[in-house]
Amino acid sequence: MIGQVREWIHGARHIAVLTGAGMSAESGVPTFRDAQTGLWAQFDPQQLATEEAFRADPSRVWDWYAFRRGMIAKVEPNAGHRALAAFAQRHPGRMTLITQNVDGLHQRAGSAGVLALHGNIAEDKWLDRPKACCRFETALPGSPPRCARCGSMLRPDVVWFGEMLPVAVLAAAQEAAQTCDLMLVVGTSGVVYPAAGLARTAAGKVVVVNPEPTGLDDAADAVLRGKAAQLLPQLLED
Ligand code: OAD
Repeated sequence: MIGQVREWIHGARHIAVLTGAGMSAESGVPTFRDAQTGLWAQFDPQQLATEEAFRADPSRVWDWYAFRRGMIAKVEPNAGHRALAAFAQRHPGRMTLITQNVDGLHQRAGSAGVLALHGNIAEDKWLDRPKACCRFETALPGSPPRCARCGSMLRPDVVWFGEMLPVAVLAAAQEAAQTCDLMLVVGTSGVVYPAAGLARTAAGKVVVVNPEPTGLDDAADAVLRGKAAQLLPQLLED
């Protein structure tokens, strides 16, 4: 099966790659839904990853993201991230990398033009529409930082439950899905939409790379049961 998928990869003019939390698992970043170690097994997403939760208890949500930022700052991209970046560098214009991950590890591995559907945990934005006085440089540090003048709060620049994905990023991802000859779906449970829907609208063949069953296996032309950092280097080397 690996040999067949390698043939598809090397024959494809345009490859779309959709990654999820499992992509970074071998770097040491916990996934969300793995039964023992997943973040949502330990924390309630409704209390940490919604706008209502932030407004109700800004410091609790800010501190949880600060804890995750600290964890991500300590880890490194793995061989899977590096294999994707190296393939795109060797084959300019042939790969579009779409990720649900907010950890920035694809970018740190050297991938350019990553379509980050759920934002970037390292960045902040204003919770409410910023006024003229709201400037990052003069925000008062705190949990969360606030505008020194009006008290508006900063929040992490990630997509929370119930929020829209960034429109231009989603449109570019949909375009890539609808024009690809092959989509690799790596390390995602495939249950969160609209991200998972990209695999269902893929024009080309769909290959799932995951050690466990996923919500997208039924849409796949091939399912490779294995880990991202082990399989991607084998699949993507020339
Ligand atoms: P999940 O935690 O739902 O799924 C992680 C997937 O990675 C599972 O299918 C695991 O089997 C798989 N996995 C674990 N280790 C792996 C490895 N070494 N190699 C390959 N796969 C492995 O994470 P996502 O599907 O990314 O959204 O979750 C989607 C979204 O739900 C996230 O972006 C986040 C979350 O709530 C927001 O925060 C908006």
